Amino acid sequence: MRARRNAACFGGRSMHAAIVGWGKCLPPAVLTNQDLATFLPTDDEWITTRTGMKERRISHVSGIELAIVAARRAIACAGLRGEDIDLVIYGSCSNDEAVPNCASGVQRRIGAVRAAAFDVNTACTSFMYGLSIGTSLLRTGVARTAVVIGVELISRYMDWNDRNVAVLFGDGAAAVVLQSSHEECGVIAEKLQCYADARDILRVRGMGTMYANLGVPFGQTRWDFDGQEIFRRAVHGMSEASLEVLARTGVGLGELGLVVPHQANLRIIDAVAKRLGVERERVFLTVEKYGNMSSATAPVALVEAIEAGRVAPGGWLLMPAFGGGLTLSAHLIRWGDRVTPLGESDAELPPCPKSALELVEEIRAQKRAGEESAGRFAGLEFV
Ligand SMILES: CC(C)(COP(=O)(O)OP(=O)(O)OC[C@H]1O[C@@H](n2cnc3c(N)ncnc32)[C@H](O)[C@@H]1OP(=O)(O)O)[C@@H](O)C(=O)NCCC(=O)NCCS
Repeated sequence: MRARRNAACFGGRSMHAAIVGWGKCLPPAVLTNQDLATFLPTDDEWITTRTGMKERRISHVSGIELAIVAARRAIACAGLRGEDIDLVIYGSCSNDEAVPNCASGVQRRIGAVRAAAFDVNTACTSFMYGLSIGTSLLRTGVARTAVVIGVELISRYMDWNDRNVAVLFGDGAAAVVLQSSHEECGVIAEKLQCYADARDILRVRGMGTMYANLGVPFGQTRWDFDGQEIFRRAVHGMSEASLEVLARTGVGLGELGLVVPHQANLRIIDAVAKRLGVERERVFLTVEKYGNMSSATAPVALVEAIEAGRVAPGGWLLMPAFGGGLTLSAHLIRWGDRVTPLGESDAELPPCPKSALELVEEIRAQKRAGEESAGRFAGLEFV
């Protein structure tokens, strides 16, 4: 089969979107499995053996604030300034506000005065879909330098009374900078898909205008979550998408330097690696430290893999992911020459005066205050 890789042609030369900067922002407050067991019928042993998770972060600031710090660090890493950026993509499903979009909030604070800015929501795959869109806009010459962000503030939308979901998620952000390049690097090929027939198995009731119309206060959420079915679909989807991308490009499993997957559950990652025939040593893991940060998960893992020296110059990376929808994706990335930052940003979050448990207790208290709205979720008709 003839290898097929995505690139647009300019003046007879293929255009690509190199990843030239990377940065992350993890809020400092750590919520442990033991913390969760203080208010939920769960324990460290159950969470560790079923998910591989030990800790997750809870943010004391907004999603945009996390995103700004991650973006600034990524831009400095690329040796650029905010005004060099002409495209800002904000991947998230827990946006601080809908209008104006969150990307414009980042754009303003990084000083990217010439940029276009928009939000992407495909749940946990939002960063990966944003990476595809950003790469395409650079390949076609619409933009030359983009910042793509994955950011999530899941703690505000969590149903902290539901042990099925509350133990799985955390907050965080990470960003990459893309730059037009004639080198064959950046995203070389990807598969994007959505199992829309399964859109009901992961739904957060309480996020969106239909709930506001019912008088449900902000953050008063209930999760529809069929963990086992999501598990099955995730393993199938990420494996099939990965194999398809490899087959399409002619890149062999043996050539892959590292797999950096979405991290929703260690057992899902292990099952995907087994189906692909990739050993654990070539899979990069963050799930123990951060849990599932939805769209921030994959980019945070990517940044930490680079920082840990696990990404080789010119190496091949595979990034499979899935999320609500059920959206799924697999990106095959060829790294460029540089694996070290060109510069460092002084961007920092303000100090957090509270423990993660105190932050969660505050969110739980707000929810208790609005609890009478819970009955309004019953009998809703969904598409
Ligand atoms: C959620 C998940 C960890 C559950 O693991 P599992 O092995 O499938 O566990 P089960 O659903 O079979 O539940 C087993 C039991 O543990 C219980 N349980 C669920 N959460 C628990 C918790 N935090 N602590 C203790 N017990 C828990 C269940 O109630 C169930 O009890 P029952 O048998 O008495 O009904 C797993 O299905 C998963 O990771 N799914 C996908 C996650 C995901 O998609 N995340 C977001 C998408 S990006």
